[in-house]
Amino acid sequence: MAMPQPDPEPTLPSCRALDAADPLAPLRAQFELPPGLIYLDGNSLGALPKAAAPQVQHALQQEWGRGLIRSWNDAGWIHRAQAVGDAIAPLVGAGPGELTVADSTSINLHKVLWAAMALAPQRAGAGSPRRRVLLTERDNFPTDRYIAQGLCDLLGWTIREVEPWGGQGAEGELLAALTEPDVGILMLTHVNYRSGALHDMAALNRTARAAGVLTVWDLAHSAGAVPVNLKQADAPADFAVGCGYKYLNGGPGAPAFVWVHPAHVDAVEQPLRGWLGHAAPFAFDATYRPASGIARYTCGTPPILSLTALHAGVQTLRAADAAGGMAALRAKSLSLTRTFIDASRGAAQAHDLHLTTPENDAQRGSQVSWGCGPTAPDGYAVMCALVSRGVVGDFRAGPGPGQPDILRFGFAPLYNTHEEAWRAAQALAEELARAARHGGAAAVRPAVT
Ligand SMILES: Cc1ncc(COP(=O)(O)O)c(C=O)c1O
Repeated sequence: MAMPQPDPEPTLPSCRALDAADPLAPLRAQFELPPGLIYLDGNSLGALPKAAAPQVQHALQQEWGRGLIRSWNDAGWIHRAQAVGDAIAPLVGAGPGELTVADSTSINLHKVLWAAMALAPQRAGAGSPRRRVLLTERDNFPTDRYIAQGLCDLLGWTIREVEPWGGQGAEGELLAALTEPDVGILMLTHVNYRSGALHDMAALNRTARAAGVLTVWDLAHSAGAVPVNLKQADAPADFAVGCGYKYLNGGPGAPAFVWVHPAHVDAVEQPLRGWLGHAAPFAFDATYRPASGIARYTCGTPPILSLTALHAGVQTLRAADAAGGMAALRAKSLSLTRTFIDASRGAAQAHDLHLTTPENDAQRGSQVSWGCGPTAPDGYAVMCALVSRGVVGDFRAGPGPGQPDILRFGFAPLYNTHEEAWRAAQALAEELARAARHGGAAAVRPAVT
């Protein structure tokens, strides 16, 4: 059953009608969502799947408590990271055994960027100029920029940043910059964490490949929300990493995933030579020999309890397979974000908020960001007011000149509803009006906004 088109002027009845026709609607019951709460932050921390507690409990009490060290074999702990990787793989167009789960997104990015830097001279081909420029966008997530900067400093590369992609044409700048002869790597986050803008991965991969440039993708805000095809026949990616705790619902600090194109996974090593990435860990060799395939991207002992929770989260997401899988999730995600944009636009614009998220479906991820203009009420105060009345989004301060503070609303198509999108828009309108009447900034900002 396909999702009907959202109403351009959403009302509570039209939103309820969309929810009634939603083939994914029954899957919301898989989550422990606090009654009455409208949770629009699954792009930061996914909700708790009901399956997580019993599965983690089993891993704790039976596997650890009773099985103790025998569980590495008897409960399959040693293979759990690969089992979770195999469950994630189809969500991003990867094959079985090609994607594994380990460490954090930041650490996996360090591994794949290092490998890409080692591989870049081979990709560029003999006789081509030295390529030691890593191309990215200025508005990329800080951890991506910091990790890249650290490796560039260490290995003698330079970063080149184009202006943020916000649907206003910067994609063209990236495509043009890819043909500059010194560019060796393109590193991007598929869906931008601030604007929610979605890159055209196929176009960028195709141009990069033709120009001899390797691509490294951060799928933190796309895995589980936006279809990804890492091995698209005419436009494959080279490396990818992504988060376990956002749309994969793996819980706070869940381990991350890492994928390398099978054509070159064995051609280079990664820099963190841990014993579990060794070809034969229990041979306890004096010398490191990398495992073949993606197993070499493992470093140390996997966090079994966190992996177990992530497995529950991914299985919960994969329950959508029977109702159309990623295509159905994407259709619903677009319908939810469209509904929220349309329902909140009037009040937002009246209070000097500007849509930072592209309106074009093909360029939008699964979140809506309203940027605060100079005369807008204090964005952090507005978000605090929303959270205290049970509408949970988040706030991202503008990181520099010309980059506004942002009110972020993430839509997880597995559990959010159109009615929630409509109610959140009404709440935003009321809190903007209240803030405009009473003014004032929020109290001291805590460590996490
Ligand atoms: C685009 C992106 N990459 C990476 C991360 C986080 O990486 P880590 O799991 O290493 O903290 C985030 C976190 O929000 C993110 O938005």
